[in-house]
Amino acid sequence: MTGETLFPAGFVWGAATSAYQIEGAAAQGGRGPSIWDTFARVPGRVAGGHTGEVAADHYHRYRQDTALMADLGLGAYRFSVAWPRVQPEGRGPVNPEGLDFYRRLADSLLEHGIEPWVTLYHWDLPQALQDRGGWASRETAGRFADYAAAVYGALRDRVANWTTLNEPWCAAFLGHAAGIHAPGVQDPATAVRAAHHLLVAHGQATRAMRAIDAGPRLGINLNLDPVTPASDGPADADAARRIDGVYNRLFLDPLFRGSYPADVLQDLGGLGGLEEAGDDDLAAIAAPLDLLGVNYYRRWVVAARPEWPRLGGPPSPWVAAGDVEFVASDRPRTDLGWEIDPSGLDELLLRLHTEYPSLPLYVTENGAAFDDVPDAKGLVPDQARIRFLDGHLRAAHRAIQGGVDLRGYFVWSLLDNFEWAEGYAMRFGIVYVDFPTQRRTPKDSARWYREAIARGGLNGSP
Ligand code: FCB
Repeated sequence: MTGETLFPAGFVWGAATSAYQIEGAAAQGGRGPSIWDTFARVPGRVAGGHTGEVAADHYHRYRQDTALMADLGLGAYRFSVAWPRVQPEGRGPVNPEGLDFYRRLADSLLEHGIEPWVTLYHWDLPQALQDRGGWASRETAGRFADYAAAVYGALRDRVANWTTLNEPWCAAFLGHAAGIHAPGVQDPATAVRAAHHLLVAHGQATRAMRAIDAGPRLGINLNLDPVTPASDGPADADAARRIDGVYNRLFLDPLFRGSYPADVLQDLGGLGGLEEAGDDDLAAIAAPLDLLGVNYYRRWVVAARPEWPRLGGPPSPWVAAGDVEFVASDRPRTDLGWEIDPSGLDELLLRLHTEYPSLPLYVTENGAAFDDVPDAKGLVPDQARIRFLDGHLRAAHRAIQGGVDLRGYFVWSLLDNFEWAEGYAMRFGIVYVDFPTQRRTPKDSARWYREAIARGGLNGSP
């Protein structure tokens, strides 16, 4: 191949992590327990019995980690703030030591010329709030707005780019319907209620932050994936419509069109939860945003299986869709079993661009788990991850060529980390972490990413 695939000037080259997955220091610095601390301690919930108690020990090693980011040439770093570090009880007085950690982290990034991007909620709800009902309770939305305002007030002089929630679909449906994420509830109706309360929390938080000043560039991170019918038949098309509804449009429509989609309301009708949404809720949820963070990992191919029960099957995140089959293809997969399909990314970005009001888009997560092993020289040759990232960046570039206002890309993840129910076995980092010694080793993909950043794009023509 000749030539280069260059991105527009000013394109943001980043990497992302989240608090519970890397910080450790779970009982230090005044941090209170989160629902993930509780969940991980229940035998059988997390592979290998792993917890985030130590994780990548980033709480103590953040300076080393920001130096590593500087060495890669990162322009931006997306991290999340642990609510229970800032408010151990989830409400009431803030813990100054907790806020101070994030101030020091932001300062260290700024010293290296790296833009801090803050996500306020990446799934680590204070356990004290779960004890009062968690996301099943509307009260949690108000608590989140108070917490968001406290963090914004403390960091607004250092941080310009903010997102409220990471992947509310996962928090609601993996956490409350499938029960494979904290808090481990398996009740579809509760999951739908939690989804609405998460969106209300987002809306109330944006109001509270904008009431402090007009400053924040504000958005949300959604996990969005194209959904493709397995055949041309009407039943499979309807299955695709329904999965797209409960996965993508359940969040996109209230945020960007001001209402829940009518077909989804009908599909979920029997479960309740969304009907309580009054005009005030919907207006808060739809308050204008400055950016949308897109987390993309895969495409879904679905088929109708009318002989399967729609409701009441085994616990699943796909509420009221027990009669939909997720069809495997022969595409290559990551170690997590996720099919690799870069073409889903430009398809998704173009859809967002044409179907929803145009606002700046950022890919705020994209990456792959592979079983990386250091070789005899201590290097980590992760060619498969390089191919994955290269393919997806090319898809991002195609989207930009097609007119999409895509302004940045964040690799998931900077470091190997605690991959939720999978524990430490699934390594997503471009930097290898040897957990017993906490030694960091940039993988070949980190060196490859550094070259891409320095070049402003990829080797070889589009
Ligand atoms: C996303 C999560 C992130 C990480 C990746 C692999 O759903 O936001 O924390 O687990 O998947």
